[in-house]
Amino acid sequence: METKRFTAKDIKEAAAYLKQGELVSFPTETVYGLGANALSEEAVRQVYKVKGRPSDNPLIVHVSGKEMMKQYIAELPMVAERLIEHFWPGPLTLILPMKADTFSSAVTGGLSTVAFRMPDNELTLELIKEADVPLVGPSANTSGKPSPTTADHVYHDLQGKIAGILDGGAAEIGVESTVLDLSDPLGGPTILRPGAITKEALAQIIGEVSVDQHLLSEKEAPKAPGMKYKHYSPEVPVWIVPNEVQEWRRAIEWAENQNLRIGLFSSEEVLHLLGKNSLIEEYSFGENTVEQAAKQLFSGLRALDDTDVEVIFAPAFPETGLGEAYMNRLKKAANQKFFKN
Ligand code: TXA
Ligand code: MG
Repeated sequence: METKRFTAKDIKEAAAYLKQGELVSFPTETVYGLGANALSEEAVRQVYKVKGRPSDNPLIVHVSGKEMMKQYIAELPMVAERLIEHFWPGPLTLILPMKADTFSSAVTGGLSTVAFRMPDNELTLELIKEADVPLVGPSANTSGKPSPTTADHVYHDLQGKIAGILDGGAAEIGVESTVLDLSDPLGGPTILRPGAITKEALAQIIGEVSVDQHLLSEKEAPKAPGMKYKHYSPEVPVWIVPNEVQEWRRAIEWAENQNLRIGLFSSEEVLHLLGKNSLIEEYSFGENTVEQAAKQLFSGLRALDDTDVEVIFAPAFPETGLGEAYMNRLKKAANQKFFKN
């Protein structure tokens, strides 16, 4: 199959493919999604197949707004109403009890709840409206690889396997949405996956928010099935380095002593201070902020993985605000390996 490249002028054509049950990747503010008609079990099964995704891992249903979502839920709790008011369109996924006989178990992984999100991307909102159906949209990467943040990343992974890719440029945020479970009236609102909408931001709108135990302790089983899988992993081992120049120097020295070719995912400032070295391949994420690091983490890991480096170093940032989501993804990519001297 030829994978077409769509732009803004091709939205009708892209929507027609989706209506026929074909797969089209779409841009969002977080990462690119692999779109399929959520109401077609066959189309949804194709998503798992193309990604190589375990079938017990439920999908997020992308909607054009609250009205579309309401058709598929048993009721809309007040907290959800308030969160939607503040954060949609945006990187916040809400898990709610599903209305009976709406989505197939291919979407929900057999659960009685569904995850919904309204992405903050004009092209994609238009695509959903044009297709006139909700779209499932897991990240459009091969399962286990870093999520795609550009159309080229999607093309690299899924070329020949899907009908097309709607190109909306590079994703603004770079890490997937915050997943918030609102389906448990006893447990209260619970974050299952950290994202750009932070715990603090949520708490300002709805008061107390808890965090799934597995995010705090390795031993707990995650409530979001997808969080248990190995994720975001380049082929090359990744190590997390404290973001201080002397620590970067130590890490480089350690790798040099083993004659390893080194990939550095780092800020312009740090790369400048470290200087050039023939064993080193650099990926600069620009300004030394967690926003820039998060935005380019997956892109950087992919780019360095495509070179001949044998080890990748990436910086730790404090685990507050967006740092929680960034460190959650980086720790998975690094398989929890922290560089300590
Ligand atoms: O930013 C994002 O959310 C991106 C873009 C494309 O929208 N999508 C994305 O989808 O990250 P995916 O499929 O890679 O991640 C969905 C996560 C998984 O960890 C899954 O287990 C969890 O949400 N999830 C989905 N439905 C759930 C449910 N009913 N209960 C608990 N967790 C659920
Ligand atoms: Mg994913």
